[in-house]
Amino acid sequence: MAFRLSTKRFGAALSASRASAFSRNYASAATATSNLPQETLDAIEKESSLPNSDPPPDSQTSRLVGSHLPYMVPTYVRPPPMFEKGEGCYLWDIENRRYLDFTAGIAVNALGHCDPGMANLIAQQSRTLIHTSNLYHNPWTGALSQLLIQKTKEAGGMHEASKTFICNSGSEANEAALKFARKVGKTVRPDGSKYEILSFHNSFHGRTMGSLSATPNPKYQKPFAPMLPGFKYGTYNDIDSITTLVTENTCGVIIEPIQGEGGVNVATQDFLLALRRRCTEVGAVLIYDEIQCGLSRTGQLWAHAALPKEAHPDILTTAKALGNGFPIGATIVTEEVASKIVTGDHGTTFGGNPLGSRLAHYIVSRLSDPELQKGVLQKEQLFRKHFAALQKRFPEIVTEIRGKGLILGLQLSQDPTPVVTAARERGLLVITCGTNTLRFVPPLIINEAEIEQGMEILGEAMQAVFKEPGHIEGTQGQQEMRDS
Ligand SMILES: Cc1ncc(COP(=O)(O)O)c(C=O)c1O
Repeated sequence: MAFRLSTKRFGAALSASRASAFSRNYASAATATSNLPQETLDAIEKESSLPNSDPPPDSQTSRLVGSHLPYMVPTYVRPPPMFEKGEGCYLWDIENRRYLDFTAGIAVNALGHCDPGMANLIAQQSRTLIHTSNLYHNPWTGALSQLLIQKTKEAGGMHEASKTFICNSGSEANEAALKFARKVGKTVRPDGSKYEILSFHNSFHGRTMGSLSATPNPKYQKPFAPMLPGFKYGTYNDIDSITTLVTENTCGVIIEPIQGEGGVNVATQDFLLALRRRCTEVGAVLIYDEIQCGLSRTGQLWAHAALPKEAHPDILTTAKALGNGFPIGATIVTEEVASKIVTGDHGTTFGGNPLGSRLAHYIVSRLSDPELQKGVLQKEQLFRKHFAALQKRFPEIVTEIRGKGLILGLQLSQDPTPVVTAARERGLLVITCGTNTLRFVPPLIINEAEIEQGMEILGEAMQAVFKEPGHIEGTQGQQEMRDS
């Protein structure tokens, strides 16, 4: 399309219902008098009525994307805008349009985009020391390890937390956890028969071969089959199946206390208590993957900190918010597990480098602030109030509200992809998960005005898509890519 409205820039800050009257009149005038092709007129009309309509194929953005694509392995399908700047809960694309971010880089930017404290530390530490390898000591790997243990215990989580292994991502944190479980099994039973690992349907633990083997989603596993031997899958929250699935041959059980990618499903306390009991009975290591739901996203430092200690894990994995965007992960273990790991069993070149560790040390200190955690619970209530209103407004579309703190899911009866597109074109970023679920994992520092603004846009997007309850119409989005 050769026509791109210059009103776009100031229109971006407005929601659709408040879109510039000037812009609309301008477009109406253009469409009324023009003999341009209908397709072009429709595009003009769309651009004028939406604050952030996706960049069209002949835009500067699309040209730039098109020039890059030939060089990128096509592992992702991305929506048209290209983001180049972030601050707090907002992102700006290269056409300087602003988006409110309810995704936080998939539950990563808990402190928002480009936190100034973090930016200062990056600058400072990058001029001091970035990397030495794990062959040498540095002040920050150990300090972060110590802080994670201290804060975990203070928060009432994993009461036997004792030692930490620092790595670079969630998959690697889980990979370490799975290897440690195997090593425990080998140590306890040197004949090698204690090697089975149980995980659960709808879980997501990562893309490396070990973490992928624990992620029983055919879409992710099938292209890379066969998976590693010894992996079994159970049904989340099904207490009755535990005894059959977890046996003397089981060395580890890995579970997300709240499944993120799987649909924001919350494990019941009884289920986790029963799992813990059975793991203890057969000498299997219980691993909680809190890569998405941890670090105060539920209003407590760890999601499992809400549980009695009889449900606590032997291994806890974290990543995502740990670096607020800087890649880092950690595997926290009990003394019992650590005692089975010896020099050379596991390692990493970059993991625990001074830059990442110092940043994570700062971020953990900030995220463990009780005031921030209290705020998360208050903001949850605001989201829930708006979700309830949406459910009332679209009773056949919104079927369930799930989650805890600021990891929330809105279950729809239909594909939410058009809503994601319609919201983006109105200046709000949201993502999906599970089956037809809208996922809300905003920065934990989001304020009430931003939540109100985002929910208003979401309401407008849903109105635009579901003109009348039960009926999809209009904007067809691209199939959302979601990776965690
Ligand atoms: C619960 C959970 N575990 C593991 C992972 C994998 O983490 P990463 O993508 O950093 O490897 C993710 C997200 O991607 C996740 O949400």
